[in-house]
Amino acid sequence: TTIYVPCDTTARSLGADAVAARLTRAAERLGVAIQLKRNGSRGLFWLEPLVEVETAAGRVAYGPVAPTDVDALVDAGLFEGRQEHALALGDIEAHPYLARQQRLTFSRIGLTDPLSLEDYTARQGFAGLKQALALTPQAIVDEVKASGLRGRGGAAFPTGIKWQTVHDTPAAQKYIVCNADEGDSGTFADRLVMECDPFMLIEGMTIAGLAVGATQGYIYLRSEYPLAQAMLDEAIARAEAAGYLGENILDSGHAFHLEVRLGAGAYICGEETSLLESLEGKRGLVRAKPPLPAIEGLFGQPTVVNNVLSLAAVPFILDQGGQAYADYGMGKSRGTLALQLAGNVARGGLVELAFGTTLRELMESFGGGTRSGRPLKAVQVGGPLGAYLPESQWDTPLDYEAFAAFGGVVGHGGVVMFDDSVDMGAQARFAMEFCAVESCGKCTPCRIGAVRGVEVIDRIRAGDAADDNLVLLADLCETMVDGSLCAMGGMTPFPVQSVMKHFPDDLTRPQAEGG
Ligand code: NAI
Ligand code: SF4
Repeated sequence: TTIYVPCDTTARSLGADAVAARLTRAAERLGVAIQLKRNGSRGLFWLEPLVEVETAAGRVAYGPVAPTDVDALVDAGLFEGRQEHALALGDIEAHPYLARQQRLTFSRIGLTDPLSLEDYTARQGFAGLKQALALTPQAIVDEVKASGLRGRGGAAFPTGIKWQTVHDTPAAQKYIVCNADEGDSGTFADRLVMECDPFMLIEGMTIAGLAVGATQGYIYLRSEYPLAQAMLDEAIARAEAAGYLGENILDSGHAFHLEVRLGAGAYICGEETSLLESLEGKRGLVRAKPPLPAIEGLFGQPTVVNNVLSLAAVPFILDQGGQAYADYGMGKSRGTLALQLAGNVARGGLVELAFGTTLRELMESFGGGTRSGRPLKAVQVGGPLGAYLPESQWDTPLDYEAFAAFGGVVGHGGVVMFDDSVDMGAQARFAMEFCAVESCGKCTPCRIGAVRGVEVIDRIRAGDAADDNLVLLADLCETMVDGSLCAMGGMTPFPVQSVMKHFPDDLTRPQAEGG
């Protein structure tokens, strides 16, 4: 019997290693021959550790399995796939949380051993690369343009147009840089890709290299992801050994080399130009644009900087064709979005859906409402720089333009939910405080403005001249939006302004001592 126990950070932090060890011991004790496979997580985090058993009728699951549940589960027939224990979940693929998703990028995740090339190629792995090798660079760029793919890091710039700029800029050396400094609150989709399907990212970057004529790639990875680093390093070594990376990819005469570089914990190093500074070994200071990185990027050379999810979407696009990807979505938001449900949510996890689903549908029928069981009060979409959305905005479809129309951002797809016990005044203060701590310090509206922002919010919350201070806070927000060099200072006011507009009572209600 093949038994699957996930090996990603979430499952392991919830005890998956101990569960795996106990399953092995139970099998030895009973003299049952099992093959224990460490798969990636399917992203149904509230069910982790999710144990699956291969049966004639498909993969049946049990979860969440604590190490202390293992013996009782085995006694109730887990090794035979019997569904008699209270933790039995049946055919996992039929679970509504999974069955209702449209998994294009995450199609293999949770099914395979992340480091098995055999598993990867058995499920369309490297099919996109093989297609790309048969095309001209311009034809690859055209396919990505046809897909309508837009930057999944948050800014939603058309990926194909970015590649075209790099393709068209002559240079002896060009680079592909993957932004894996996943820093938004509540997000984990990049991590899941890297820990659970690292070959997909390698394949996407290699295709990008072929498209623009770059022979060197770097994955800029946040240092808080040690398991992703280990997975990527091993996956790169295995891909090289098998000829998918290196001097002569699949005997095509094309070269592409890939290395992982670690960040050091600064949020601003997720901004593409400070990321490039950091990659060059300098302090992570934002560069003024222009010049765009696509023209003068890493070491002054034309550079594609794309988020993990943008690059991870590329193998599907080359394999199935740009149109197959563009068939999903709404308006100018084509394809699927990897949504990450977090915060006060009953069923947190990864939900990949075509653009167009409403936030309410996502939070209620996937998320199952709040974990606390109390009413939902606000939701922050798009990371710490995204607006807090009140109930009147929850029927907005997830679409870049629909969100932009009311000052919201879809961003990297992080959805953080809050129940009615949240103090939105404290959340507004946190936005300014976060910016004060993480500012790179290059420009005044952000460096000084964020510090003054914390002070003025503190005065408002202390009940001190609230009206004057509210005017001051509104002015300060406007100055930061208009005068900041990058999104850090330029977007920090969004959550603050949304609290001023939708939750004013929380902001002005005097705080109890020490509150
Ligand atoms: P941006 O709008 O300045 O640029 C978007 C991308 O398009 C950049 O790569 C830029 O170089 C490129 N670009 C623009 N014009 C181009 C052209 N003509 N040719 C080729 N390339 C071109 O946005 P920025 O500052 O890069 O990103 C801001 C976003 O980052 C925010 O919307 C926010 O949602 C997101 N963000 C994401 C985080 C995460 O952890 N994923 C963290 C913080 C912010
Ligand atoms: Fe640096 Fe803030 Fe200015 Fe961005 S807005 S360049 S983070 S000081």
